[in-house]
Amino acid sequence: MEESKILQYFEGKTILITGATGFLAKIFLEKILRVQPEIKKLFLLIRAVDKRSAEQRLHEEVLNTELFGVLEEKYGADLIPFLLSKVIPVCGDVSYENLGNYDSKLRDEMWQEVDIIVNSAATTKFDERYDVAMGINALGAMHVQKFARNCSKIEMFVHVSTGLIPEKPFHMGETLDGAKISYLDIDTEKRIVEERLRGLEAQNATELEIASAMRNLGTDRAKLHGWPNTYVFTKAIGEMLLEKLEENVKLIIVRPTIITSTYKEPFSGWTEGIRTLDSIFVAYGKGKLKFFVGDPNSTLDMIPGDMVVNSMLVAMVVHTNQPSHRLIYHIGSSLRNPLKYEDMRWLMYNYLTENPLLDTGGKPIKVEKGKILETMASFHRYIAIRYLPFVQMLKLVNMILCNHFRNLHANARRRIDYSIRLAELYKPYLFFHGTFDDTTTENLRTTIRGSEVFNFDPKCIQWDEYFMNTHFPGITK
Ligand SMILES: NC(=O)c1ccc[n+]([C@@H]2O[C@H](COP(=O)([O-])OP(=O)(O)OC[C@H]3O[C@@H](n4cnc5c(N)ncnc54)[C@H](OP(=O)(O)O)[C@@H]3O)[C@@H](O)[C@H]2O)c1
Repeated sequence: MEESKILQYFEGKTILITGATGFLAKIFLEKILRVQPEIKKLFLLIRAVDKRSAEQRLHEEVLNTELFGVLEEKYGADLIPFLLSKVIPVCGDVSYENLGNYDSKLRDEMWQEVDIIVNSAATTKFDERYDVAMGINALGAMHVQKFARNCSKIEMFVHVSTGLIPEKPFHMGETLDGAKISYLDIDTEKRIVEERLRGLEAQNATELEIASAMRNLGTDRAKLHGWPNTYVFTKAIGEMLLEKLEENVKLIIVRPTIITSTYKEPFSGWTEGIRTLDSIFVAYGKGKLKFFVGDPNSTLDMIPGDMVVNSMLVAMVVHTNQPSHRLIYHIGSSLRNPLKYEDMRWLMYNYLTENPLLDTGGKPIKVEKGKILETMASFHRYIAIRYLPFVQMLKLVNMILCNHFRNLHANARRRIDYSIRLAELYKPYLFFHGTFDDTTTENLRTTIRGSEVFNFDPKCIQWDEYFMNTHFPGITK
């Protein structure tokens, strides 16, 4: 397929994008505006109390980011008028029916004009409160799908999800290997959330107690059904709900693995915030992380954000000519160009030795090679031997000195609990030995082989070069 055919497809189209203040959707927005300025309209769903604050978020958190610098160079003073003629912020929230938008005039306009919906809204916290994750990742997907059904011209609905090893759909009620029960009843899950919330309110639980109870509930329910955390569990429920509803709207489910900074477009190394495994790089670089938990031979599946966006754009064009009503694409690297955790560790060490982070006084922080704890048992042993005695000692001193070191003791305890929680949360990723099947995605790649503009082939990535010159400098910045 020619690149021009892809560009042509988007000419005159109107797209509704959810999650527009998020990392991936911003890359999507910038790309479409840059490569196809003849796009008709882009409605961006943004959580905000009113239209004015949605506009403010659009400007401050989206358009004013460095990501839009290339467009700024291209348009100069005409950029703002160009953007304002295309981009329309819409106040809303996917957790509600009709996306929580109460402006009926605007809603009618969207129902009449939208050709494509891209649902990128999600909570990506692994241990999110169950009620919140259920509302956004599961019911949210369903609300966006229902909204799509009301759009008279809708051509397709692209849902960004997250995957498991086979590139196949989740069927309603499915549980995973290791589940303690054999059927996932979504109505029961909704009821459990409501009952638990009511119970906590009846006990006059504080907001903090409610948040903690709902977080634990999510983790427990996810594990009961075989999923490692609330995030992936509720995303899977979202897919099941879409499967149930899908009749007349073509559905593309894109499941990226861990999304990292941009590979090439609009420039290399754009990222935002400290995302997933980047927290390891930062903690290590700041000298706070002295050891690594995880199997050195496990595979880290990562994929740059611009490649994910390219795959979405190509999938839309290819899908429009296919009879199939639903396609699932895994966008990752573990099958075609795997990266070992051990290699990543060395890359971090080399980078931070050559380019150390600075402490608050501006002095370079020296990193050590760091001990590797290859099993969770060795991690727990290490904590018990290295850190717990220190906490016990602080506790004792504290008792003797009438709570003089209360804060010190509480902080040390909190840091240990935090390390244990982080290790438990990331465990499925740090001991991961699978590869993500991407056969359907590979077929998609063959349609656009050789294209620079829409490249999403992970085989192009030289990992050492990418991390040393692109991703690590991006996070550091
Ligand atoms: N990042 C990854 O490594 C990764 C990997 C695999 C799959 N994914 C999937 O890719 C998609 C995008 O991820 P991302 O990294 O861009 O996430 P992100 O940066 O955390 O952005 C999430 C976006 O969703 C919005 N959102 C959250 N709750 C919402 C609600 N109730 N209603 C409307 N919008 C809501 C957020 O808005 P606020 O600004 O108001 O919070 C934000 O704009 C998600 O579906 C995620 O599951 C991500």
